[in-house]
Amino acid sequence: MRTVSWDYDKQTLIMIDQRILPGRFELIHYSDYRDVAQAITDMVVRGAPAIGAAAAFGLALAANQSRAETAKTLRADLKSAAEELAAARPTAVNLNWALRRILKVVGETEGSPDELRAVVLAEAQRIADEDVEINQRMARHGAELINSGDVIIHHCNTGALATVDWGTALGVIRMAHEQGKHIHVLVDETRPRLQGARLTAWELSQYGIPYDIISDNAAGYFLRTGQVQKVLFGADRVAANGDVANKIGTYMLALAAFDNGVPAYSVVPTSTVDLDTPTGEQIPIEERPADEVLDLQRQGELLSPAGATARNPAFDITPHRLLTGIITENGVVYPPFIENLRKAVLAEQTA
Ligand code: MRU
Repeated sequence: MRTVSWDYDKQTLIMIDQRILPGRFELIHYSDYRDVAQAITDMVVRGAPAIGAAAAFGLALAANQSRAETAKTLRADLKSAAEELAAARPTAVNLNWALRRILKVVGETEGSPDELRAVVLAEAQRIADEDVEINQRMARHGAELINSGDVIIHHCNTGALATVDWGTALGVIRMAHEQGKHIHVLVDETRPRLQGARLTAWELSQYGIPYDIISDNAAGYFLRTGQVQKVLFGADRVAANGDVANKIGTYMLALAAFDNGVPAYSVVPTSTVDLDTPTGEQIPIEERPADEVLDLQRQGELLSPAGATARNPAFDITPHRLLTGIITENGVVYPPFIENLRKAVLAEQTA
């Protein structure tokens, strides 16, 4: 079952509701693109590639919803729907990348509104299908770096749930496991939304990969005591110089890995590399509601005092100097990232 898929009979977008996993597995059907934008904001769907694909299918819904009778009006409707979808979450560049890709194809296609509607859906489907294929290519490159016996710290959820299927950093771990390598994963619980403790642990259980959940602040201990051979995470956006925006806590993890000489890799499709953003400084960081931090309960009682306030940046920037490499579908990119990342991205465009 894909995280994001299109129901061709009902003409709806189907998504796994990630807010309630692992307790319940439920699917939601969407027929209005505005609800898809809200679902991205509310994190029904999350993970950079998955929200890119969700937004792409969101545009297919917008095309169906539009009453436009000319191609010109339909293009205008799609442009405004794309603006709404793009605003749903600011950090992951895949969202904009997928929307721009569809608008470009629509801009270049002549035809009736119905022909354009079909083009939008076909391109969204292509984005989804390519995502799975790209993840598996990335996973094969990454798995070459993994040795049997490795203990790996993994941050957030970068698995099938964060993509259309298979995964990025978790996809590397999954591939190495399928190749017969013995791996143990230390799963950062990933406060405050607990994507690690809830989603990554759930996926690892299904794949039969041994793991332990650790609190995020235990990572330094495991690294310092020599119990970890690799650190793997994904990214929501990689700047042209290799700085990486990823789930909050990635920076501290990469710092501790660097200080202890443990290789740290970010695993990303080239659609996550934003050559128009020179460095991490220019990447917008989403700040989410304080409730996500404060809503910690024990036996039904809130742990923080009444009236407590909180800050909740959802992502941070890891400077490229802390990374050993960036694993893409076009191979593993090593420093100098400013040159080599560009080559990896352009190789994709000319392929
Ligand atoms: O807030 P989320 O859960 O959408 O954050 C997801 C991450 O930070 C992932 O590491 C990133 O999107 C890469 S996943 C393939």
